[in-house]
Amino acid sequence: MSTNAVGFENLFRFTQLCLERVGLSPANASDVALALATTDAMGVFTHGTKLLAGYLRKLQGGGYVAGAEPRIEREGPAWAIVNAHSALGQVGCLSAMRIGMQKARQVGIAYVGLRNAGHIGAAGYYAALAARDGMIAMITGNDIPSVAAPGSRTAVLGSNPLAYAIPVADGDPILLDIATAAVAGGKVYAALQRGESIPNTWLIGPDGLPTTDGSLYPQQAALAPMAGHKGYGFGLWCEILSAILPGGNMTWQVGSWIFDEPGRPSWHNASITVIDVAAIAPPHEFQPRLRRLIDEIHAAPTAQGVERVLLPGEREWANYRRALDQGIHLPTDVLDKLRQAAEQTGVSLGELEIPKSVVAETETSG
Ligand SMILES: NC(=O)c1ccc[n+]([C@@H]2O[C@H](COP(=O)([O-])OP(=O)(O)OC[C@H]3O[C@@H](n4cnc5c(N)ncnc54)[C@H](O)[C@@H]3O)[C@@H](O)[C@H]2O)c1
Repeated sequence: MSTNAVGFENLFRFTQLCLERVGLSPANASDVALALATTDAMGVFTHGTKLLAGYLRKLQGGGYVAGAEPRIEREGPAWAIVNAHSALGQVGCLSAMRIGMQKARQVGIAYVGLRNAGHIGAAGYYAALAARDGMIAMITGNDIPSVAAPGSRTAVLGSNPLAYAIPVADGDPILLDIATAAVAGGKVYAALQRGESIPNTWLIGPDGLPTTDGSLYPQQAALAPMAGHKGYGFGLWCEILSAILPGGNMTWQVGSWIFDEPGRPSWHNASITVIDVAAIAPPHEFQPRLRRLIDEIHAAPTAQGVERVLLPGEREWANYRRALDQGIHLPTDVLDKLRQAAEQTGVSLGELEIPKSVVAETETSG
């Protein structure tokens, strides 16, 4: 392991212990810790263990319910609506994903709507699990509005994440995992905390025009939608699949898991859609065709200074393998949040060998 890197196992174990300390079952604590530590290992630091302190605050305050188990409310052969009963979003999404995969295995394709969950973190994590099991998966989520529509002066939709994963027989899944905002809100907070400036493509100010003043977000500025009307359209798609179809809270009915008082649920929602590849296309047909597509893209001539054209997920899987081998270099803002989690729970940071640094005052993720 390289110097100053945190071992994956230690990060996972610390996170698991913190979650157990506030009442999660060992199985749920392990599931959530694995999701957060894996997200860090993939290099997506805005949505890994940085979220832990905020989740603990909600769990300790009662807004998120440590012992809640998601339950199916209604279902058909190829769909289900699951109520998470204010469980952590990771617990809700993993439950929804397991139900969806089971149904897809039986009937080829399944949709599961998840209501009343906590913040779901990195949407791609759940899609990748299905892809590792030979299934194509799409995840959508909704959140409290933070993103402007083309022409609006205020936020109209959340930064609603959209992710898909495709199984690749001889490699890691193709994995696209994005906010439908120009950037995830967490990147604005992280830039502010690190004293970095932000580009003028990230935020829309109170006059409806682009601004580079990150301190205006979220009270007086909204995130710009990803690729203008296109991202706005996909954000709307996420809202409809995640909240409108399953009957969950929409737009401003969703709570802010960061700024609301800790006893208030956040009522996040998500959807998963799973396709069992083997039911539709035999793997000996699907995989060679997919391989040909991947090879074609990899063979594309590169622009000056570019070593290789990448597929979605390639960089993150390379980060992941390196992290398992050499440890994870956590940014300062993540380390500060882990120190905060240690103080909240009394779990020792010892094994993480995290350097001392000032605990940040504000939550910092979108
Ligand atoms: N839970 C929530 O409410 C919420 C809301 C918004 C975002 N998020 C999460 O935030 C995270 C970050 O989102 P983001 O929009 O900042 O991500 P991003 O803009 O960093 O894009 C990441 C995605 O783009 C792909 N990618 C990047 N460069 C590429 C290249 N050159 N070629 C091919 N693919 C490339 C990556 O593989 C990855 O799939 C995601 O995990 C998302 O789920 C969560």
